[in-house]
Amino acid sequence: MADIRLEGVTKAYGSHRVHSDLNLAVNQGECFTLLGPSGCGKTVMLRLIAGFEAPDAGRVAIGGTVVYDAGGGVNIPPDRRGLGVVFQDYAVWPHMTVFQNVAYPLKIAGWNPEELKRRTLETIALVNMKGLENRLPSELSGGQQQRVALARALAARPSLMLLDEPLSNLDANLREEMRFEIKEIQGKLGVTVLYVTHDQEVALVISDRMAVMDGRGRIRQIGSPAEIYENPADAFVFGFMGVANFLPTRSDGGKLLAGGGAQPIPWPGPEGKAEAWTAAFRPSDIVISRPKPLPGAGCLSGVIRRASFLGAMMDYLIDVDGAKIRAVLETHEAMSRGLIFKEGESCAVTFLNLHWFDSGALKETAI
Ligand SMILES: Nc1ncnc2c1ncn2[C@@H]1O[C@H](COP(=O)(O)OP(=O)(O)OP(=O)(O)O)[C@@H](O)[C@H]1O
Ligand SMILES: [Mg+2]
Repeated sequence: MADIRLEGVTKAYGSHRVHSDLNLAVNQGECFTLLGPSGCGKTVMLRLIAGFEAPDAGRVAIGGTVVYDAGGGVNIPPDRRGLGVVFQDYAVWPHMTVFQNVAYPLKIAGWNPEELKRRTLETIALVNMKGLENRLPSELSGGQQQRVALARALAARPSLMLLDEPLSNLDANLREEMRFEIKEIQGKLGVTVLYVTHDQEVALVISDRMAVMDGRGRIRQIGSPAEIYENPADAFVFGFMGVANFLPTRSDGGKLLAGGGAQPIPWPGPEGKAEAWTAAFRPSDIVISRPKPLPGAGCLSGVIRRASFLGAMMDYLIDVDGAKIRAVLETHEAMSRGLIFKEGESCAVTFLNLHWFDSGALKETAI
């Protein structure tokens, strides 16, 4: 049974339609991520599920219970939906200690003092904050305040947690650490998590399954991180999941030519019908080498337009007949194989992994 089920959910503000006929099912015990660009309607969707806002049409069910039904007049208030929520700004109460912040929902729910103390301390320990119970938020780092917000949402052991970009205010190192911790806590408690982010790396690490949304709030693909990364449903998903190269081709006498030049693409072409095709690949899927004595031989030749040393990696911008593509390779590998190029030098490229997209559809799905 799905822990969250949205059926035909529609929400507009004035003439601005954020969600149209949206359907989504999140399974019990899974960590499900909504990934999409800023403004696509992720927070609105969480607010609709939590009950802070009402859809214009459709139904929302949590744990098999209908909590909102536009047609049937059902609208269960947020505090009776059994959720833990951490919103984007994760506001913890500044005048309360860590203990008081975490205990607050239990106090409101009328827990007896002994049980309340036991559960509060247990939850503080769960988020690795033991020993800091008497601190005020002003005496905590951003990451620690974040843990308090998480503990507060977990204190009553909800069966469902809604987390809205809870790591966005943290620096890169803390963000990396916290995403593993959230995943660990989720596993320990077996709580269903609906996690919202525009950061694809966070989504890949944390999700059992994820939905990729486009700028207009439409869900483009649902799947495991590996499925979405390896088999993107369309060019939007491919582009949104990491740095993407798009190499346009044109058809000429049964051959596909790269960019605006005359070099034939030396790999199997796309299947299906389209007026024009674009090859798509990640910078790390390009194999770069010194130019071959005989051109062709499974490679395209290009010219290095920019060579950047990024420490562990070398980042090259390569011109292939007018199309600019980015390639990265490990610096130590580049050094040991004589692949440190200078700007203006010629090179040859081939690809480990290639996706084909209809060039016409690609324009429509532009990010
Ligand atoms: N109360 C409101 N009144 C009018 N428009 C709103 C309201 N809340 C949200 N919107 C609009 O709905 C759209 C979706 O907003 P939402 O906050 O869900 O985006 P988001 O995907 O969470 O973006 P971000 O990643 O930046 O947080 C935006 O265009 C926003 O301006
Ligand atoms: Mg948001």
